[in-house]
Amino acid sequence: MFTAAVLTVSDRSARGLRKDGSGPEVVRLLEEAGYRVVWTGVVPDEQKEIQEALCRLADEERAALVVTTGGTGFAPRDVTPEATLAVCERLTPGIPEAMRYASLQVTPRAMLSRAQAGIRGKTLIVNLPGSPKAARENLQAVLPALAHGLEMLSGRQSDCAALGN
Ligand code: MTE
Repeated sequence: MFTAAVLTVSDRSARGLRKDGSGPEVVRLLEEAGYRVVWTGVVPDEQKEIQEALCRLADEERAALVVTTGGTGFAPRDVTPEATLAVCERLTPGIPEAMRYASLQVTPRAMLSRAQAGIRGKTLIVNLPGSPKAARENLQAVLPALAHGLEMLSGRQSDCAALGN
């Protein structure tokens, strides 16, 4: 069982002006897939605050997976991808590629998400868009493959060929 943390990035939710619908939806999907969600929280669309939260979740909480929701669009304050790029040591471009590929079957607006994903230490960080519907559709597109990546990242498994994959 892998641990996961869910970080909602939203000015309005951070100020208590809007109930966070996406965070709980992401938690639900992760728990359904067998993850142990050890932390959830909300930060405003401030790059420094997002980076600090991501670093703390990776370096101190040592979550295997950190999922963010929100702040991936074109609005001037959408900076979650920039914060993610700033703290990741290695990028995992296949994850956002797969999310956008799957999401484009649902809506052409999928191309407007600038979501990124990458690795910091032994933590995988994945951005999702902000609406509950978009967060759900994007996460569902990649969830079946994530555990295998997390196994490799944790060092539990390194030889895919030996397993016939
Ligand atoms: N992806 C899916 N699967 N479904 C959606 O409804 N909405 C898009 C896109 N990705 C959407 C989606 C829209 S309208 C935007 S603006 C971007 O995600 C960015 O969303 P964000 O700014 O809430 O992060």
